[in-house]
Amino acid sequence: MGCTALANYKMVSFDKIPSTQTYALGMVANGTARDRTLVLADAQSAGRGRYRRTWVSHHGNLYASFIYDAEDRDPRLSYVVAVAVVETLAAFGVHAKIKWPNDILIDAKKVCGILIEYAGRFVIVGIGINIKSNPTVAAYETTKLDNYANIDRSDLLNKLMKNLDKWRRASFIDVRARWTDLAIGLNRTAKYRGDTVELIGINENGALVLRDGTHYVLAYGDEIVI
Ligand code: BTN
Repeated sequence: MGCTALANYKMVSFDKIPSTQTYALGMVANGTARDRTLVLADAQSAGRGRYRRTWVSHHGNLYASFIYDAEDRDPRLSYVVAVAVVETLAAFGVHAKIKWPNDILIDAKKVCGILIEYAGRFVIVGIGINIKSNPTVAAYETTKLDNYANIDRSDLLNKLMKNLDKWRRASFIDVRARWTDLAIGLNRTAKYRGDTVELIGINENGALVLRDGTHYVLAYGDEIVI
């Protein structure tokens, strides 16, 4: 385990741990979590994704969990993080898109996953980016940055931290505009609580706006299947 400071973050780094996300939750539980703590690992033996999926985590990719102060749950954070990741990749000439709420895709294949969890007075933003390898996953296609550009992991992390800071400070009007430009699936149909609905966009509070026949519905969280 290593403990240093990087770009105003306290950084705790490991060669291999079960999950940076679970480690960060542990820091919250044992009182060692602070705003702007980064938990980094070169590999994970029990990486976690959304929907209780496994996040396959071999050496060579980026596995990071950022701890921030959070007074309340904020549905807008998902969009902030997704935009920060896409802007980070764009800085290396790689053009990615966002599938609601925050899957990052290149050529319709997932290159990055984001897991946001709240614990105590903190939020933990887990980000996994496939750089050198991508797993085979039954539910969706995957890819890795190496197919598009030669990106050094430290450079990627540095840029990502700068973009997270930039987009967390930005007004949600700007985040929403950028997210809307980058999103795929808008004006298309999706499933919501068994109904087929049209995805319209996100509102100023971070809710997803859906059209169900003649009326509009607001949805939060993972209730949508695109
Ligand atoms: C998803 O299902 O799309 C989210 C995947 C999130 C993976 C990252 S890797 C770093 C952090 N540690 C984990 O165990 N999960 C997140």
